[in-house]
Amino acid sequence: MRVLVTGASGFLGGAVCARLAAAGHEVHGLSRTPHALPDALAVRQHLADVRDADAVAAAVSGCDAVVHCAARAGLWGPPDEFRSVNVTGTRNVVAACLRHGVPRLVHTSTPSVVFGGGDLAGIDESHPYPRRHTTPYARSKAVAERLVLAADPARLGTVALRPHLVWGPGDPHFLPRIVRRARGGLLRLPGGGRKLTDTVYVDDAADAHVRALALLAPGAPPAGRAYFVSQGEPRTVRDCLNSLLAAAGLPPVERSVPPVLVRAAGAVLEPAHRVLRLPGEPVVTRGLVDYLCTAHWFDVSAARRDLGHVPGVSTEEGLRRTAEAYARARGRARGAAYGTGRGTAYGRATGTR
Ligand SMILES: NC(=O)c1ccc[n+]([C@@H]2O[C@H](COP(=O)([O-])OP(=O)(O)OC[C@H]3O[C@@H](n4cnc5c(N)ncnc54)[C@H](OP(=O)(O)O)[C@@H]3O)[C@@H](O)[C@H]2O)c1
Repeated sequence: MRVLVTGASGFLGGAVCARLAAAGHEVHGLSRTPHALPDALAVRQHLADVRDADAVAAAVSGCDAVVHCAARAGLWGPPDEFRSVNVTGTRNVVAACLRHGVPRLVHTSTPSVVFGGGDLAGIDESHPYPRRHTTPYARSKAVAERLVLAADPARLGTVALRPHLVWGPGDPHFLPRIVRRARGGLLRLPGGGRKLTDTVYVDDAADAHVRALALLAPGAPPAGRAYFVSQGEPRTVRDCLNSLLAAAGLPPVERSVPPVLVRAAGAVLEPAHRVLRLPGEPVVTRGLVDYLCTAHWFDVSAARRDLGHVPGVSTEEGLRRTAEAYARARGRARGAAYGTGRGTAYGRATGTR
């Protein structure tokens, strides 16, 4: 198939491109900045903004399928940006598929679409969307997911995958953030990090996309459905953070802090950050505290049953690969920040760039 992957320059999008190319598909990638995938994968570039409907339509034209990974990710940023990239961008992708008769769309969603601030402990896909989301990211992704799943099923087979906490070599989000905070002596475990969380290794998350694509057609069983995608081995937040810190060669974080205290700090830092127009993000936000202080693990039996999704990389193996890639990247960058150049994350991490 000729497949367009939006967000090809990103962490997960790059891995999806690599998996699709390895499976013999003709892969086209769309992003605003060039991807840095190995030439051997022959991923064609479409430099475009998903908010530009005409540019999206031009890239979608002639494709047999689209994997829509592009998004403004993160727990901090202007709500308008989350809305425009994640909602308008997704609307453009759906419209382009319908306009050009593309019958398959795999949409990368997130479990955050059902997160309203309470524990998500072992829930399955019947869990409803909350009345209120805790971050603009989650809100925008929920609208996007509903848009995708509501598309005319007779013309467009859609599936929404909800990978939780994607990690691995080249992670530009979670690992660099905890490493920065740990190096600055600012990392603490809100509430002792006792809540359970599940994660998914980047190649396994990518694999779920490829499997969904292979099964998808208008009216096919997974069409019109959302699936949680994770390892299926929940661990405590403490264990999860500390194993990643160890992969980065850093000591574990042991110090705990009462959630109410860090939440109060977030309530002060967030408006200060906005008013003073500070770069980056506050060291702590209420969204981050809510996220780390609640359970995030899922019943993944539907993905197993309908998509045949079985994680292929154990946590130990994933950590070993992450540690290797981290050491390589550190060696190359000689102390420069790891994983901040989103556009090169996958190629660099896999040692191909
Ligand atoms: N990482 C996780 O833990 C996680 C968990 C659950 C769900 N997800 C979902 O997985 C997807 C990929 O996330 P990721 O972790 O790979 O994030 P990422 O590395 O930040 O990648 C985001 C991608 O989206 C592209 N993009 C952003 N704004 C765009 C725009 N206006 N027009 C065109 N492309 C745009 C970026 O490329 P340019 O900047 O070059 O345009 C980049 O390729 C997202 O949909 C995210 O919601 C991620």
